[in-house]
Amino acid sequence: MATESLTLHPSGSKMPLLGFGTWKIPKDSAADVVYKAIEAGYRLFDCACDYGNEIQVGQGIKKAIADGLVTREELFITSKLWNTYHHKEHVPLAFNRTLTDLGLDYIDLYLIHFPISLKFVPFEERYPPEWGNMEQDPVPIHETWAAMESLVHSGKVKNIGVSNFTAVLLMDLLSYAKVKPAVLHIEVHPYLNNADLIKFAQSQGLQITGYSNFGPTSYVELGSPAAKNAVPLFKEENLSKIAAHHNKTVAQVILRWLVQDKIAVIPKSVNPVRLAQNADIFNFKLSTEEMDTINGMSIPLRLNDPGVYANIPIYA
Ligand SMILES: NC(=O)c1ccc[n+]([C@@H]2O[C@H](COP(=O)([O-])OP(=O)(O)OC[C@H]3O[C@@H](n4cnc5c(N)ncnc54)[C@H](OP(=O)(O)O)[C@@H]3O)[C@@H](O)[C@H]2O)c1
Repeated sequence: MATESLTLHPSGSKMPLLGFGTWKIPKDSAADVVYKAIEAGYRLFDCACDYGNEIQVGQGIKKAIADGLVTREELFITSKLWNTYHHKEHVPLAFNRTLTDLGLDYIDLYLIHFPISLKFVPFEERYPPEWGNMEQDPVPIHETWAAMESLVHSGKVKNIGVSNFTAVLLMDLLSYAKVKPAVLHIEVHPYLNNADLIKFAQSQGLQITGYSNFGPTSYVELGSPAAKNAVPLFKEENLSKIAAHHNKTVAQVILRWLVQDKIAVIPKSVNPVRLAQNADIFNFKLSTEEMDTINGMSIPLRLNDPGVYANIPIYA
């Protein structure tokens, strides 16, 4: 499968433009799904403590390596620090748990999952801790970031970055970071193109990973009223026309729109046909007019907003 990559700063690592999301993949099928994704050509896996399936994802990776499908060096593994581990002494604790669960000896990219610090929950009490009772325990981001930098110095993490950060938080972080954030990981789909934030982050040397590329689809099953009320992207008229023109699916057009603009994508699918379809996006090109049409669809509609489901309005 032809794929392309982005160069990360300051490490020089290559991050594939196409990756695979692992949120909401059930534990009992995660090893098998990850194995099939590697067979289909995916090389980047987007994981997190919060997804509750890092052990099983790791088993899939281990089997694929053992069977000779891929080497560890050919894979790019991302994981994320959960909100309950922002204190400096909890960062290595949480990271080592993720590393052990995945069965790896290093991680390519470790992200602060949200700019939100919740009260520490010991592993033996609950893992993953999820949002719990949302009890906040403010920790300045510079403390968390210094602990993330120590992980880079230990050699166990190749790159660090942030997720769900706004431009103002990035400006602040960039003012003191000794190891600059390599990646900004944010919600990006045709209903929320996040253009200004992306432009700013790219101008500061960060690469972008867009998540929830299929917009409402992932949030309907969570009961989100905003997602239920939106026209599903797979039925949206403009996208359907562009897809028909290229003899591709709407899913492929959305992913192509992003990678063509150097935004990495991480679609999730447990279905072998859709999973393979989502990887087949490097053999066609959207015209400038088609790119503009999709760029013009932003409402904007944000679906992953802790202000709505956790009463912590980070985007207010
Ligand atoms: N940093 C963060 O805060 C954050 C937040 C959200 C997500 N993420 C990451 O981003 C990844 C992707 O986002 P996401 O899981 O929210 O959603 P997504 O990839 O946008 O969409 C997944 C949904 O679309 C369906 N689907 C996949 N391919 C399809 C196709 N070709 N045609 C029709 N339907 C298709 C899937 O169903 P099937 O599985 O049945 O195919 C699933 O219901 C996550 O898995 C996670 O790794 C990060």
